[in-house]
Amino acid sequence: MYTQLRPVLFWIAPETTHRLTIELLHLLRYIPLSKWIMQRNLSYDDPSLTREVFGLKFKNPVGLAAGFDKNAEVVNELSCMGFGFIEIGSVTPLSQQGNPKPRVFRLPKDRAIVNHMGINNAGAAAVAKNLKRHSRRRRVIVGGNISKNSATPNTAAAADYERAFVKLYDSVDYFVINVSCPNVENLRGLQDSEQLRGIVEAVTEQRKYHDTYKPVLLKLSPDLSATQIEEVLTLVFEYGLDGLVVANTTTRREDLCTPPATLSRMASGGLSGAPLLANTMGMVRYIATLTKHQLPIIASGGVMNEDDALQLLNAGASLVQIYTGLIYNGPGFVKRILKRLGTSYRLVTKKS
Ligand SMILES: Cc1cc2nc3c(=O)[nH]c(=O)nc-3n(C[C@H](O)[C@H](O)[C@H](O)COP(=O)(O)O)c2cc1C
Repeated sequence: MYTQLRPVLFWIAPETTHRLTIELLHLLRYIPLSKWIMQRNLSYDDPSLTREVFGLKFKNPVGLAAGFDKNAEVVNELSCMGFGFIEIGSVTPLSQQGNPKPRVFRLPKDRAIVNHMGINNAGAAAVAKNLKRHSRRRRVIVGGNISKNSATPNTAAAADYERAFVKLYDSVDYFVINVSCPNVENLRGLQDSEQLRGIVEAVTEQRKYHDTYKPVLLKLSPDLSATQIEEVLTLVFEYGLDGLVVANTTTRREDLCTPPATLSRMASGGLSGAPLLANTMGMVRYIATLTKHQLPIIASGGVMNEDDALQLLNAGASLVQIYTGLIYNGPGFVKRILKRLGTSYRLVTKKS
């Protein structure tokens, strides 16, 4: 059915479609049984899919990537689509508007999206309030993806991450430090080891003041060189970070089917979707090998069908996230991936 609906949705501006989707999910709150019906049709439970990763028990390894529910407005409703976890954000200490519109573009020929959102969000206090309002009914693991305000210079970034971390601490199950968004000027410069050290130190120090341990992960850029990855890994182990999200959107535009003239009409920004898969796969494999599979990896980037998810998990990821794949495949996509993973795991168990 989504295949028939997609041309209509794709006819509307991407950010408007996104807002309409969030509002529609909001509405479900007021329609009796709607969430139950959604869950019955879209979720897929199978004991072979459960995972324990960085101390948390996931009912399945497929999550929603950061950026879809930036302000944690519809976490419960999204969980009815069958996700094992949902990453909200990126959240900055103060609210911010992001970059001027239009700032999201579809590239159907490449099954991709270019976004130049610039981390628009309601700010950490408002997001924490949204999460607390519905925490009693929450049945899904929630990750809090944090970043700095665009107006904060990189030299003062650590304090911003710390403030967002503190505000969200009691409301999420794990954290992701986002230093890899290409849509905020110079943000990716924070991946340089000295800058990163300050942020990681501030956050992990702050964690010591809390009774409950919350895992902290780092989200990398897909455009890092092997040397840069190794430098980051040294820091990850030095500070005992709990894992990596591999990876964010790319500024590269190689080998795309979309004509250069069309591309040049779009804002510069981060490319997501199918063109990312090969790089995500390579990075996951490289990091998993380098760390002897000791560091949990959440693979994010280019999962457009069931096999992509399976291959990333086989390459060494503990969990996978989707975003662009959901836009192109619709809400039934999570269940399709889960069925495929379930069949594959049951086959492996039978053989062994
Ligand atoms: C419209 C849009 C907004 C995004 N916003 C964020 C964000 O705020 N923070 C973040 O860490 N990643 C953000 N991302 C990146 C996604 O979380 C994900 O890492 C990336 O899209 C690659 O996955 P995909 O190919 O499955 O889309 C955004 C992606 C898109 C398409």
